[in-house]
Amino acid sequence: MKKKYEASTEEKHLEIVNIASLEKRVKDHMSNEKGAFGYIRGGSEDEWTMKQNTEAFSKKKIMPRVLQGIDHADLSTKLWDIDLKTPIIEAPSAAHGLAHAKGEVDTAKGVADAGSIFSMSTYGSTSVQDAAAAAPDAPQFFQLYMSKDDKFNEFLIKEAVKAGVKAIVLTVDSTLGGYREEDIINKFQFPLPMPNLAAFSEGDGEGKGISEIYAAAKQGIVPSDIQKIKDMSGLPVIVKGIQSPDDAELAIDFGADGIWISNHGGRQLDGGPASFDVLPTIASAVDKRVPVIFDSGVRRGEHVFKALASGADLVAVGRPIIYGLNLGGAQGVTDVINHLNMELSITMQLAGTKTINDVKNNQLLD
Ligand code: FNR
Ligand code: LAC
Repeated sequence: MKKKYEASTEEKHLEIVNIASLEKRVKDHMSNEKGAFGYIRGGSEDEWTMKQNTEAFSKKKIMPRVLQGIDHADLSTKLWDIDLKTPIIEAPSAAHGLAHAKGEVDTAKGVADAGSIFSMSTYGSTSVQDAAAAAPDAPQFFQLYMSKDDKFNEFLIKEAVKAGVKAIVLTVDSTLGGYREEDIINKFQFPLPMPNLAAFSEGDGEGKGISEIYAAAKQGIVPSDIQKIKDMSGLPVIVKGIQSPDDAELAIDFGADGIWISNHGGRQLDGGPASFDVLPTIASAVDKRVPVIFDSGVRRGEHVFKALASGADLVAVGRPIIYGLNLGGAQGVTDVINHLNMELSITMQLAGTKTINDVKNNQLLD
């Protein structure tokens, strides 16, 4: 009888000193059963880009300012008509059931309790309906991996619209998986089903590696696919996985309602630039025509500050959310976002910036 994958079931407040230290705690806590921890932690090839993602933030400095009469920071912000308590949102990631038995149901709840936005991955361990039901009043997005089969695309989008999502996040940087050596060594195959796949096709992803699952994805995504998804959903489409200003221009020319600057946390093309390094150029190409979301390598409130000051409207975190989920369930997710909020508040006050708009107008130093 095949051993069932056992994930954490803990629900507790986390004592967090810093986000970076969570990885080691999770490594001990998850015991890398069936390569699960390795799949979450891992990047592609030499993990050079993954390392650059976090190191790149030290290339820019924040000027401390005093005598500004600031006694607290206001982290509230908006995306379109969505009010947010924080500019920090969750980056969509697959298979939260690897980290916690409740999967994305707990992630969605934890993100909602932090006053932020949750995005359900096409490859989630939970259905888009269940995640929406877990936080019925909170804003959620659905992240789409386009399938070769348009009927499947229509099915996924219909389910997401029925669940009440506010936007579709079209991920365009992963028509195939990056070469992830830890998954190769562990012979990683997803030990849990993916309900969003199971609900439509005969396969549910269980027992498959990421490359087999991606094989069903549409390989040649083209700009006209953006309008296709907009027409199918009737929702705004945010294009995720942009690293070149030319691609940002192309996406906007073909109807993108948002640009998500990301290199997938260094899990795709190794040897590419740090995501933070390309943010300013892309933000100036976008020129405030649509909102800019930024992710990859964010581990400090100071990183969030620098990304906002470099042109991002919102900043997303991936692995840290999954780590919080593993260690503390929904509460752990909320604690991770609130820890980053605490660090961001300190940075804002010491930089003499009271509001998120003040941060967006802040001039970083080289
Ligand atoms: C991801 N990411 C991702 N992105 C996406 O659009 N759909 C997905 O299903 C996934 N799945 C996924 C699984 C795991 C385990 C990780 C770590 C990441 C990428 C994610 O949205 C985001 O771009 C990065 O995680 C951001 O980098 P950090 O914050 O993890 O360094
Ligand atoms: C990954 C895919 C699922 O990064 O986006 O693992």
